[in-house]
Amino acid sequence: MGEQELRQDITRLGPWFHNLDLNGVQTAPDHFLGDYPAGKFSRFAHLVPGDLTGRSVLDIGCNAGFYSLEMKRRGAARVVGIDSDDRYLAQARLAADTLGVGGVEFRNLSIYDVGALGERFDLVIFMGVLYHLRHPLLALDLIREHVAGDLMLFQTLTRGPDEVAEAAADYDFSDDQQFQNPAWPRMAFVEHEWAHDWTNWWVPNRAGVEAMLRASGFAVEAGPADEVYLCRTADVPFSQYGPHTVYPARPSQGEAAR
Ligand SMILES: C[S@@+](CC[C@H](N)C(=O)[O-])C[C@H]1O[C@@H](n2cnc3c(N)ncnc32)[C@H](O)[C@@H]1O
Repeated sequence: MGEQELRQDITRLGPWFHNLDLNGVQTAPDHFLGDYPAGKFSRFAHLVPGDLTGRSVLDIGCNAGFYSLEMKRRGAARVVGIDSDDRYLAQARLAADTLGVGGVEFRNLSIYDVGALGERFDLVIFMGVLYHLRHPLLALDLIREHVAGDLMLFQTLTRGPDEVAEAAADYDFSDDQQFQNPAWPRMAFVEHEWAHDWTNWWVPNRAGVEAMLRASGFAVEAGPADEVYLCRTADVPFSQYGPHTVYPARPSQGEAAR
């Protein structure tokens, strides 16, 4: 494809959230976060295994595929990128084709339907999606229950103090002190808009992020670095009382028969 045709395709599929360098043509050169996500990635790249040879990767909310393509470059045998927005998926396919990166599958699939993949992945990437979800803990539970095989690279928008208050195992009904402590695990609910974006629903503090990860069965191995954590699957607390999720794991019988 010639440069003029490529520029036309980039414009047709815009606007872009990922600024990708497609053979010298930038997809979002005026991004409000600078050279995003390459600039961000440089601040936490050390958390990700450098060699993913033979490993499988699921990139949830893959957008234009920056992380999917990067994991493929690190040798991953299988990379699946999912997103609920067809325009972003078209961007990702254009990027992979233009850069000649094969073997990455981009699919329209909601985070809430990851059970339909029927497969666990060595590395799950769940970056920049949690705060866009109305049901964030359900999403983490579904990832843990259906697709997380070992590692998860995780990031969410975080605000509030960097201090993390130690939560007790239990509290008295009348005990109100911890609710006054800004370092206690919290997640603010955004009823209207945040940063001019009505799809931002929840903004946790650092303690809240780390508590939610533990509560859904992830142990933090490294981080945070620029809000990013590398986690590993761990026991799911309270799982002796049954599964946390009640969401369909697989396609219905009718769908499966088609
Ligand atoms: C802020 S972008 C983050 C993109 C990329 N993961 C990153 O960190 O640069 C959020 C992405 O999540 C996708 N998304 C939002 N809700 C989703 C859902 N329910 N299921 C799958 N993807 C979703 C959006 O379409 C968008 O591409």
